[in-house]
Amino acid sequence: MIPKKELEERIEKAGAIRRWYQDVPYGKIKPSTYSPFHFGDGKTNLESYGDGRWKNYVVPIMEQLRKKLDFENSTLCEVGCNAGLFLLRAWEQFNFCRLLGVEGGLGGYKQLLLTQEYYDKMPLKTYNVSVGKLEPNIDNKCTQRIDMVHFPMVDITLLSCVHYHMVEKDWIEYLQSLCLKSMYLLVVTEENGSDIFSGSSALLTKTIQSIHPVESIVSIGNGWKEISRITTPQEWLKKQRFDKYKNLTTILYVSTHLKRLDVNECFEKQLKCNEYNKIFYQKIFPKFIKDVLQGKVTDENCTLSEVYKWQAKDYANSTAWKPPVARQRTLSYRDIVISMKDHGQEQPILLNPSFMVDPWDGFHRIAVLKHFGVKYVFGKEIVTDVWPKCKNR
Ligand SMILES: C[S@@+](CC[C@H](N)C(=O)[O-])C[C@H]1O[C@@H](n2cnc3c(N)ncnc32)[C@H](O)[C@@H]1O
Repeated sequence: MIPKKELEERIEKAGAIRRWYQDVPYGKIKPSTYSPFHFGDGKTNLESYGDGRWKNYVVPIMEQLRKKLDFENSTLCEVGCNAGLFLLRAWEQFNFCRLLGVEGGLGGYKQLLLTQEYYDKMPLKTYNVSVGKLEPNIDNKCTQRIDMVHFPMVDITLLSCVHYHMVEKDWIEYLQSLCLKSMYLLVVTEENGSDIFSGSSALLTKTIQSIHPVESIVSIGNGWKEISRITTPQEWLKKQRFDKYKNLTTILYVSTHLKRLDVNECFEKQLKCNEYNKIFYQKIFPKFIKDVLQGKVTDENCTLSEVYKWQAKDYANSTAWKPPVARQRTLSYRDIVISMKDHGQEQPILLNPSFMVDPWDGFHRIAVLKHFGVKYVFGKEIVTDVWPKCKNR
């Protein structure tokens, strides 16, 4: 618990680099924001900022998604999450089991850290990285790019009023890699032709803002399929008298590449394939995972583990699989456990058309995720004729 006085000081300090955009509540204290007055003439514009934006533009789609996903077992990643208001609301209202907050601006990131500290029970992981280059008027030195190869896979990625701050090339690259990382993509954006684009980011060189934002998403097409869309009701706009600022659209996409699969079902299905799997994955591998987590499997002693012995024995008659290979594989399994503990699943598990997992590596990852109590894995179907035959498909 941060004492009131200290909290007030820290809110003020966190607003020094970048004024507060989101009025995150810290108990009874809220930072004062510039956002409600951002584009207007001082009249409040609360319905499309902060909690208003969450309530009007994100929640209705979340309600739709809730019918497809059990949020208690899902991960939500927000890119451009600012001070983390939406992550907080997503946790309070929908009880996501894991939240990832990505904020490129250092000012916003410092505010996010305060939110994380204040709501310390929130299962939140934060990243001060930007997707592609940050526009020059965002206050920060952070020019790191998200290493998409090692970014965790998630159920939903939320980009609320962010993507049009990106350079087109970065946005396109990001979308193309994201459809292998995120099952759903939820974009809140300005509608085509909004006047806003000539104003707030005139500094930008060539960003999405120079083309129509909604079209820019739709035209990407490949890898994403639109499944729902909401726009601001025109009557509501008229009543608000802020029509040119408040024309927001939310679009929900599903990845056309990924499948979300029940871990236990995958595990059982694969076990049925052969006896080798049964002994290895029910007895030897679970013990190995525990040993790794206790730091007992080192480069030096890994040949003492049952996993090594199993493989060395297994490959004894093969000229291709010599002990060094068994050692290397043992260490790679150890690394899988360590990486999954910190980041969860990073790459889709390759599936054959009847949802058997990749015979080379995927099953280890499924076994590790099962060990960590993860309920779902992400898979990607591939078509190949080299899959081993399994009678129990
Ligand atoms: C207009 S605010 C929207 C904040 C919040 N998503 C909302 O809807 O209230 C945009 C936020 O995205 C961040 N941002 C902009 N470009 C980004 C990028 N390429 N990568 C990560 N964050 C970015 C900005 O620093 C800022 O905090």
